[in-house]
Amino acid sequence: MNRYSLRGKVVLITGATGGIGAACARRLRGRGARLVLVDLNQSALDALTVDLGTDTVLAVAADVTSLEQMRSVALQAVHRFGRIDVVFANAGIAADPPVTVATADVSTYEKVLEVNLLGVWRTVKACLDEVIRNQGYILVTASTYAFVNGVVNSAYATSKAAVEMFGRSLRAELAHTGARAGVLYPGWVATPIAHAAYGGNRTATTMAKRAFKGPLGKPIEPDRIARAVTAGMERRGARIVEPRVWVPISLMRGVFATATDAWLDRDTTFAALTRRLEAETRR
Ligand SMILES: NC(=O)c1ccc[n+]([C@@H]2O[C@H](COP(=O)([O-])OP(=O)(O)OC[C@H]3O[C@@H](n4cnc5c(N)ncnc54)[C@H](O)[C@@H]3O)[C@@H](O)[C@H]2O)c1
Repeated sequence: MNRYSLRGKVVLITGATGGIGAACARRLRGRGARLVLVDLNQSALDALTVDLGTDTVLAVAADVTSLEQMRSVALQAVHRFGRIDVVFANAGIAADPPVTVATADVSTYEKVLEVNLLGVWRTVKACLDEVIRNQGYILVTASTYAFVNGVVNSAYATSKAAVEMFGRSLRAELAHTGARAGVLYPGWVATPIAHAAYGGNRTATTMAKRAFKGPLGKPIEPDRIARAVTAGMERRGARIVEPRVWVPISLMRGVFATATDAWLDRDTTFAALTRRLEAETRR
């Protein structure tokens, strides 16, 4: 397989100042890529840019849910660097504290879908012509939640299952263009988005410990994702799964889903924890 060199390529990253985004930005700079960093807060972007080198980095505050803002980012990137080769649609949020469908506040629930799914679609839509023109690569951040039951995290898991299908469909649609698309599936990663399940909320933390055993429940450092992402971009891969312990589960997802859904049907401790979380979060 031909290696897709990242040297000199223009890579646009959303959620760039978050744990995974910033770690990837550092690794990609190390590979010689020029970067377009997108996140909500300009001063956080500026701090990261100073770290990475201002002459090869463009940092633009924008909200991925705004197609207009993402089109403006794409224009600014082309104006500055002449092209966009790779788009890493990575910005995401989760409900914190976690909630059930019954107790969720409508606007918070829909905001998760808006950012995680429509934000990815709008980021890609704004940049796709450039990526096709340059026969580049689009990477969308899903999650192992694309195939793990989304109990007490359903807006998030629903968005990630949808993002996975978006990325797979896009890859097939790009096959005739020379450009490629792929899906990133991180397991648990030690970043702010995982806060509730790792100490931020006592009930959610107990639930996560019960549901994710051994290495499946051990958060990895963002730099491990960044290494996998860099290597995945260099092969313009269809799937990037990290940590690799999730690979067999991803491959056997039908059996895994049937078994875990049945376990959730029966597990009275988990049901009691769900009831407790509902009591804590009911509005
Ligand atoms: N950390 C994990 O355990 C984990 C696991 C699987 C998938 N993911 C996914 O990885 C991606 C990156 O998450 P992370 O772990 O780095 O979390 P993070 O919270 O550190 O970073 C998320 C970043 O997205 C930005 N963002 C949020 N809404 C935005 C918007 N509307 N427009 C632009 N930027 C916005 C935030 O400001 C933040 O910098 C997310 O899509 C997340 O769902 C994370």
